Order: sequence, then structure tokens, then C-alpha cells
Amino acid sequence: MTKPDRVLGVGLVGVGWVAAQHLQAFQSNPQARIVALCGRNEARARARLSKAGVSVPDARFTTRYRDLLNAPDIDIISIATPNHLHADQAVAAARAGKHLLLEKPTGLDHAELKRIRDAVARSGIRTIVSFELHYNPYLRFAKWLREEGWLGRLVFARFQYLSRVTDWYSGWSWVRTTRSGRSHLLAAGCHAVDALRWCTGLEVMELSAFHTKITRGYQWPTSIVVNLTMDSGRKTAPVLAQLTSSTDLQLPYTFGVEMMGDRASLRDDLILWNDSPVDLAALRRACPFDDVTFHKATTATGAPAIRIETVMPGSADVAHHPFQGEVDELVTCILEDRDTHLNVLDADRTMRVCLAADRSAARGGRPVRV
Ligand SMILES: NC(=O)c1ccc[n+]([C@@H]2O[C@H](COP(=O)([O-])OP(=O)(O)OC[C@H]3O[C@@H](n4cnc5c(N)ncnc54)[C@H](OP(=O)(O)O)[C@@H]3O)[C@@H](O)[C@H]2O)c1
Repeated sequence: MTKPDRVLGVGLVGVGWVAAQHLQAFQSNPQARIVALCGRNEARARARLSKAGVSVPDARFTTRYRDLLNAPDIDIISIATPNHLHADQAVAAARAGKHLLLEKPTGLDHAELKRIRDAVARSGIRTIVSFELHYNPYLRFAKWLREEGWLGRLVFARFQYLSRVTDWYSGWSWVRTTRSGRSHLLAAGCHAVDALRWCTGLEVMELSAFHTKITRGYQWPTSIVVNLTMDSGRKTAPVLAQLTSSTDLQLPYTFGVEMMGDRASLRDDLILWNDSPVDLAALRRACPFDDVTFHKATTATGAPAIRIETVMPGSADVAHHPFQGEVDELVTCILEDRDTHLNVLDADRTMRVCLAADRSAARGGRPVRV
């Protein structure tokens, strides 16, 4: 379908670390134009952008969010503020008829999630939520590999979000608080919950979680481990899964991905098997992605394997995150009047898993149905 020849005006609120990446991605999209920024202090906001190598001299600046809501030349509002501001700002944007790029977490509790859902449903706006790892070449490949049956019937999945965030982070003053950061899953590990749902294509049925608090400075527990059952959609046993989200570990940033089927397993950059080898030549022929290549490999114990080479989700730095794909999908969907695949309703399911896990952990691991 050819896209209508229209340029969408963008206003952004919350000019901080991630905002620079949103702005760069909108600047690289020929059908978007950044017209306004909203923050608490213009000099500080522009200095932050300049430090990140981003310049938007033509964008006007306001300290009042309502100026974005009332501006006729703004079609999209990009919300990149601390977590506790997302729900009110998203609801107001939806009521004003502005399409939304909303940072995760969308809402911090069920009431906020409902308000966002209702406002978006009433307004009919298009939305996208920043689970931008959907555009990461490795995760996109992992989803394809499972969908196309290379792993066989999925039996177990384990996803991990391990990232040491302390006072180096620009958002440290708010993220460490219960009011805004709220929990490790809501503030950070929701990326792993989202990836678990997206890559497996399954929804969570029930879970049980434990958490602990180790890293100083946080008002909330800094590690959580979650056991989950996922609805396989068949009469067979549910798929088992496990999630870990932590800031406590002495590790470089780790986004762990494991999906184990009855034919083969994917463990990070390795494809492994026990019985029938995965046919490397056939995999090379079938794989639709130019940016993914494969090599014969052996494990440390000498077992044969296939090594995947592509861009891994291996960095906490937002400059490494694929926001371009997210922004391009939003702009295309607005122009073609259709929903994005990563809209607030889909993100809502991820958020509800996070809230259920936090509730289970707060009750000492009591099982919670999602
Ligand atoms: N999807 C991803 O991969 C990803 C990565 C990082 C962050 N995020 C999300 O993006 C959002 C922003 O994170 P960030 O890392 O960009 O944080 P940040 O660097 O702290 O930026 C947030 C900006 O919001 C503004 N702000 C408005 N009201 C504020 C308040 N009451 N307290 C503090 N700041 C306020 C601040 O600018 P002024 O002082 O100029 O008002 C600040 O620079 C968060 O929701 C976070 O979860 C997502």
C-alpha cells in the first residue's frame, strides 16, 4: 500500500536519556517532523540533547504539557517522562486525539492501565509502546525460528533481564523510588516479560514469584525470579517458563533468551539439539533475514551446534536500541489508519504479568492467576 503524502507533527515530553533516541528516530523518518518539546527547563533540555548529539533547533519549547495537547500542528505525542507521569499524560493525549508513542511501563497499577485502555479505546488513536526490542535482529529471528517450527513443540522458555542500574543513570533520582520506578519488573524487566510473550507467542496463565532487595538506594526489591505456566493452546501440558529480572548481579548487561522445544533449543546465540541435528544448509536457505548468519559450532563439551551471528540485545545503552523500527511502524500505521502490533492493549498484557508477579512476590510466592 502506498503511504499518503503527509508529514506528521511530533511533540515530545520528558527530554532525557531515552528522548534523544525517540527524536533521532523521528528525525530519520521523512513523514515526521518534530515541532515541539516539553520539559521543566529549556536550557537543561537542549543541553541534554546536545550531549546526546541531537539537535532540534526548529522545535519550539514549552514547560506546559497542555500546549502539546492543544497544538493543531501536533499529531503524535511521544511520552518519555518518569514512570509515574505516563498514565495521566497518555490519557490526556488520547482525549486530545493525539497518537501516542508511550514509554514503558505504560501504567503502574491496574487502575492506571484501565484508564489508559479506556481513553485509547474511546479516542481511536494509534499507539505504540517502547518494547523496541521487537525490532532487534536477534529477537525477531528467535520469534521466527520458533514460529516456523525449527525448535519443534515448545516445552520451556527462560528470559532474563540483568542490568546493573545505580547512580550512573540519569533517571536514578526517580527510578529508585516506589512512587515512580515502583518495581524491577515495571521499571526494567518488563522488556523480558514482553519478549517472553512475543517470542513464544503464548500468554501467561499462572505464576509464582520471589523477590529480594540487595543493591542499596532502591526503595523496592532489586531482584525477582518468576516461575510461570503459559497456555499452549492445546490440551497438552502448559509450557513452563522462568523469568529473572535483577539489578544486583555483577555482570555486564545480559538479556538472556532460551526457548527449548522437543526438537531443538535456542540458547542465546546457539541452536542446540540432542537427537536429530538441525540442518544448517536448510536453515540458511529458509531464514528470511539478511542480517542473520549461521556458523557451525561446538559447545564447550564438544557437542555440535549452530552459532547465530547478528545484532544481539546485548546493551543497556539506549543508543543501541532499535527505536527506528518502532517509530517507523507508528508513523506508517497512522498514515495507513491501522493498529501497530505493539499497541497499548498488547503492552497491557505484559504489564499485567508484571503486576501479578509483584503481587505474588509480595505474598511470599503465592500462586497468582493472570
Ligand atoms: N524503552 C527503553 O528501552 C527505555 C530505556 C530507557 C528509559 N525508558 C523509559 O523512558 C522514560 C524516561 O527514562 P529516561 O531514562 O529518559 O529518564 P531521564 O533521563 O530521567 O529523562 C526523563 C526526563 O523527564 C523529565 N521530567 C519531567 N518531570 C519529571 C519529574 N517529575 N522528575 C524527573 N524528571 C522529570 C526530565 O526532564 P526535565 O528536567 O527537563 O523536565 C527528565 O530529563 C522512563 O519511563 C523509562 O522507563 C525506556
